[in-house]
Amino acid sequence: MQTEVLKPDTGGIARAASILRSGGLVAMPTETVYGLAGDARDDRAVARIFEAKGRPRFNPLIVHLPDLDAVRGLADVGPEAEALAGAFWPGPLTLVLPLRAETGLSPLVTAGLDTVAIRLPAHPVARALLAAFGGPLAAPSANPSGRVSPTRADHVLDGLSGRIEAVLDGGPCAVGVESTIVGLDGPPALLRPGGVPAEAIEAALGRPLILPGDPALPKAPGQLASHYAPRARVRLGVDRPGPDETWVSFGVPARFSLSESGDLVEAAANLFHILREADRATPPEGSIAFAPVPETGLGRAINDRLRRAAAPRP
Ligand code: TXA
Ligand code: MG
Repeated sequence: MQTEVLKPDTGGIARAASILRSGGLVAMPTETVYGLAGDARDDRAVARIFEAKGRPRFNPLIVHLPDLDAVRGLADVGPEAEALAGAFWPGPLTLVLPLRAETGLSPLVTAGLDTVAIRLPAHPVARALLAAFGGPLAAPSANPSGRVSPTRADHVLDGLSGRIEAVLDGGPCAVGVESTIVGLDGPPALLRPGGVPAEAIEAALGRPLILPGDPALPKAPGQLASHYAPRARVRLGVDRPGPDETWVSFGVPARFSLSESGDLVEAAANLFHILREADRATPPEGSIAFAPVPETGLGRAINDRLRRAAAPRP
């Protein structure tokens, strides 16, 4: 199969929607990372998403929808979901909500759970595709399972070329880390730090989130310790790199830098591209050494991704 690269214009979006209607897979830009989209109601399309990524079937997918009415058709939307939807949708937030009966979703999407993860993306190309397709799109990040997430169309092609029908090239993703996932099937819980800072979610809820590390946190399926793995080994919190190391700075100029000015928003937007570039510049036995990044705001999502990139590989 030859993967088509589509322009994000009317013709490209119409072509992408027609591929999706015939059960094919299209990588689409979102404001966080590129997603590998397929019809969330079609068992075969959803099965192909798992197959193209080499993703374990027990790891459920996020359903992408155009508006809150579509959300109400799939899930129970309580007052806290309403509050977060009002504050952050469309945008880089995913809510895990109780799944309703008779939704028409493929059971593969939710991996048989009684909850469903839902997001309303803000990216104009993703929104145009949802409108043209007219149904729910299941979309995990468009990378082989366990590898670095894609923030540009060529990152998608690096990992999935020949395995999917098309990629819509919408340029680099503005946020650069995946959505924040909040579980709302019990007390609000931060299941994955991401593009909306946890502090902003707590402010909108008016109460604290259950945070990762808290024993009360429900275990999120499929969150594996090793993820976002480049080829080279990764070391964290390094101010003075060794002679064989590729250093990635934060807050000071360097050949590779997440943000020379120490801006966390810029660092998140650069993260996955710099990780790929630093990997390319590192010899087979070398390693990549990251400077420390503060654990506040988007820093929480950046450090989460870096810890997984540095984790022992299976
Ligand atoms: O920004 C994003 O969220 C991107 C873009 C494409 O939207 N998508 C993304 O998908 O990051 P993925 O598949 O790479 O990550 C989805 C995460 C997984 O960790 C999965 O376990 C979790 O969402 N998830 C999905 N359904 C869930 C559920 N019902 N309960 C708990 N976690 C769930
Ligand atoms: Mg992913």
